[in-house]
Amino acid sequence: MNLKPDNYEALRMPTQEQVIAGQAAYTKWLLSVYDIAVLGISNSYVWKCPSSIIEAHYNRHVSSNHLDVGVGTGYFLDCCNFPSYSPRVALMDMNASTLAFASKRIARYSPEIYQHNILEKIEISMEPFNSVSINYLIHCLPGTIAEKAVAFDHLNTIMNSGACIFGSTILHDGVPIGWPARILMAIYNKKGIFANTKDNLEGLEIALCQRFKNVRLKVFGCVALFSGEVR
Ligand SMILES: C[S@@+](CC[C@H](N)C(=O)[O-])C[C@H]1O[C@@H](n2cnc3c(N)ncnc32)[C@H](O)[C@@H]1O
Repeated sequence: MNLKPDNYEALRMPTQEQVIAGQAAYTKWLLSVYDIAVLGISNSYVWKCPSSIIEAHYNRHVSSNHLDVGVGTGYFLDCCNFPSYSPRVALMDMNASTLAFASKRIARYSPEIYQHNILEKIEISMEPFNSVSINYLIHCLPGTIAEKAVAFDHLNTIMNSGACIFGSTILHDGVPIGWPARILMAIYNKKGIFANTKDNLEGLEIALCQRFKNVRLKVFGCVALFSGEVR
């Protein structure tokens, strides 16, 4: 590897503190207001991507053998239309509170629960999935998009051939951003809730195309909706 000063950036690893900050905000209290504050108000009026668009994206790609990563309140899992009445549903998150909240909400599916930091290899034994959703998680992960993309590599190892990965993320560059979004994004980045100051549309597209086939990206406001399939 070239170790010129220009390339020092390539060696920088996210610190454990940054990783912890990206999920620590999701306490029981925040989860109790998340659906109204984020999915209701911020998505429509700040990020300019109403939750109905994310829900439609979810319905288009979800299978009956599905893993949701970065579960939050489990809103989309609760309201999506699985293609069968008894889907296999699994939840993965680093945060025990979100796993408890979401698993209670979708208890009717008897979800499998995996507490795991997606920036680390998945060494837990599990049957592979036909679809994996990763909504609003990438902008919480520290590092550049190229560094965050190890999450895609880790998920690839637990997906069947042809399985679909899909999700959404709030980008900092390469998308239209109004001033309310700029202000809120700056506050969240300062607090460590977001870590997306280096996230741009081109980087996301490159990271996805390097790993998946049939990659699709669509932008609504400053949110990129994406999907791809395991080769
Ligand atoms: C903004 S919430 C997204 C919730 C939900 N997917 C949605 O779209 O409404 C981000 C979620 O990612 C989880 N998370 C953050 N960093 C993580 C990491 N390194 N590994 C696994 N989960 C993480 C948080 O605990 C939280 O549940």
